Amino acid sequence: MLSRLTPSAFPLFLAPMAGVSDTVFRQICKRFGADVMVTEFVSAEGIFHRNRRTSAYLEFAPMERPLGVQLFGADPEHLALAARQVVDWVGPDFIDLNFGCPVNKVVCKNGGSALLRDAPLLVAVAAAVVHACAPLPVTAKIRTGWDASSINAVDNARRLEDAGIAAIAVHGRTKSQGYSGEADWDVIAAVAGAVTIPVIGNGDLRCAEDVVKRRNETGIAAAMIGRAAMGHPWIFSEIKTYWRTGVVPPPPTDAVRWELIREHCAAVVARRGNEATAMASMRARLMAYSRGMNGSRHLREQFSSVDSLAGLEEIAARHLAAD
Ligand SMILES: Cc1cc2nc3c(=O)[nH]c(=O)nc-3n(C[C@H](O)[C@H](O)[C@H](O)COP(=O)(O)O)c2cc1C
Repeated sequence: MLSRLTPSAFPLFLAPMAGVSDTVFRQICKRFGADVMVTEFVSAEGIFHRNRRTSAYLEFAPMERPLGVQLFGADPEHLALAARQVVDWVGPDFIDLNFGCPVNKVVCKNGGSALLRDAPLLVAVAAAVVHACAPLPVTAKIRTGWDASSINAVDNARRLEDAGIAAIAVHGRTKSQGYSGEADWDVIAAVAGAVTIPVIGNGDLRCAEDVVKRRNETGIAAAMIGRAAMGHPWIFSEIKTYWRTGVVPPPPTDAVRWELIREHCAAVVARRGNEATAMASMRARLMAYSRGMNGSRHLREQFSSVDSLAGLEEIAARHLAAD
């Protein structure tokens, strides 16, 4: 399935991240070498009820392709109808099903990772969406299990493969772990060895060496990178350079980082319209970008109250003059 999407022999996915992997950030990551994009998770019920805010999450630029729209929900019939709507509205390259979200608001309605411990519903959702979207591929993103005493990723992956899912991303944590602890790559490797569809490994891939190590040690067909890309979208090109040459390129200079920060902020302001709101929404992103920059602590203090592009310019000018 992956070879139908991208010529890359070992595709790099940008992980779906709510509030982070919007169209602006996806375009940045694409330019830096990410091969496949997945949208932030979108509520199937929101689509089903034609919620206007939900449809904003579906916007993407042609250069982002191949792109999958990620849906979450718990009602097989609604999910199937929502997936078909999305396919007809925006023509994604695939639909991705979220079976990993640990957030209570989602889990208590039986969505996200709740399906990891409800095999009949997991299979019903997957089969209904596969049927509704055919011949478009449908992928799934799972965690290793609900908690440490119920690791069931191998069984769930087999069930999903039987239901017609075309590829599976495995985040190597349980639902109970949330984002704490470490990703369990032994479970990811076990899944890769248990199914014939491509397995996309995800969790704690922080640098080029991590990706190459996991690629060599497990049978994964692709890697998915989330938090490491947030402050460092250069990671995708670094991975590719490392593969090609065996050398990790030097980290970007502060001047290069500032160029990207400015571009990212300007694009978000242009998209959202309201500069103060847009810049407030960028603060967490700026914190992430500051990691690895000189004087990052001082920068973070200044980023915590920035509310305009002019304010950002002042911080940049001071920081680069002090460099
Ligand atoms: C801020 C944030 C938002 C996320 N939103 C989603 C989401 O919408 N859908 C999803 O499947 N996973 C979501 N995730 C999980 C990531 O896709 C990924 O599985 C996780 O961060 C582990 O990968 P990493 O160690 O490379 O970050 C989110 C993670 C973060 C940090």
